[in-house]
Amino acid sequence: IGHSLMDPFGRAITYLRVSVTDRCDFRCVYCMSEDMAFLPKRDLLTLEELDRICSAFVAKGVRKLRITGGEPLVRRDIMTLFGSLSRHLDSGALDELTVTTNGSQLARHAKDLAACGVRRINVSLDTLDPDKFRAITRWGDLAKVMQGLDAAQGAGLQVKINAVALKGVNEDELETLLEWAHGRGMDLTLIEVMPLGEIDGQRIDQFLPLSMVRARLAARYTLQDLDDRTGGPARYARVKETGGRLGFITPMTHNFCESCNRVRVTCTGQLFMCLGQEDAADLRAPVRASESNELLDRAIVDAIARKPKGHDFIIDRRHSRPALSRHMSVTGG
Ligand code: GTP
Ligand code: 5AD
Ligand code: SF4
Repeated sequence: IGHSLMDPFGRAITYLRVSVTDRCDFRCVYCMSEDMAFLPKRDLLTLEELDRICSAFVAKGVRKLRITGGEPLVRRDIMTLFGSLSRHLDSGALDELTVTTNGSQLARHAKDLAACGVRRINVSLDTLDPDKFRAITRWGDLAKVMQGLDAAQGAGLQVKINAVALKGVNEDELETLLEWAHGRGMDLTLIEVMPLGEIDGQRIDQFLPLSMVRARLAARYTLQDLDDRTGGPARYARVKETGGRLGFITPMTHNFCESCNRVRVTCTGQLFMCLGQEDAADLRAPVRASESNELLDRAIVDAIARKPKGHDFIIDRRHSRPALSRHMSVTGG
């Protein structure tokens, strides 16, 4: 029964984001605190359980699967999951199997991803300056990410760069990032920072509205609005001078929730109906309760029936508390 997941606002759920680990080899300042405590291994879904959950969603009409983390490519044997999920591409049930990664492990995984039917990947990269890169990721190695990008493009994967726009950090570098990404044949998407998780530092002060960035870029480049939708939240423009695509993800200044088509599952099997709300449904218990999918299917349908209208993030300088206590690394964005 295709397309059976419809939420109370008439939105069809066709996009599932699955976080396969809460761990990461970086500690991006807007994503994790420096001393993040990670989950014990026994709480994690096994790769078989993750496959069962993904497949249950595919059977219910999900057409796009994105594997996230934490950093998904640090999970042991993760290619086994990609390999088994690729059967849904072969059968035509799935349009896209993809991944959002920090790029650090791409050099060793790019070929295998391509062999599993992955065609397009998103790589998070906020700066081309090695020192700034280290400051943002706390201990990431930019050279390793660059090797990963070479490997990905060498394996024929299309790459989109995701950059969180941060005032006073990379705001002066966005043109450089654009020229670099487009020069290499990669799309670039800019993202507004969201208030998730207790984070030390100045995230509120670093918030940069993309409406301002867009105006600045439009003064220098010709931006032609595109109707292209990838199924994600970005709005795209063609940059005439470079020929590349530039995306804007603007949860804070423009609410894109009315066309939301996605839900996310965490590595412990919690189904979040909205990135910006606390409500979640447990899928691990029904998966572990029986070999049949009856309980799992019911839990999914019940949860979708209460998907909220949208998030209510606000950037409020008077309250330094985050909108949600959950870190971005838990749900993978
Ligand atoms: P494409 O397939 O390339 O469109 O990818 P995507 O934008 O769906 O996924 P990606 O993992 O690259 O996410 C980019 C950013 O968008 C991340 O910062 C996510 O947190 C954010 N994002 C994705 N979906 C949602 C959403 O439903 N709500 C909000 N607020 N942010 C989202
Ligand atoms: N706000 C916006 N984007 C974030 N990401 C991580 N934390 C945040 C945040 N607080 C981004 C990463 C990656 C994607 C999965 O989410 O940079 O590109
Ligand atoms: Fe890791 Fe991505 Fe979070 Fe950075 S944003 S710490 S790379 S999960």
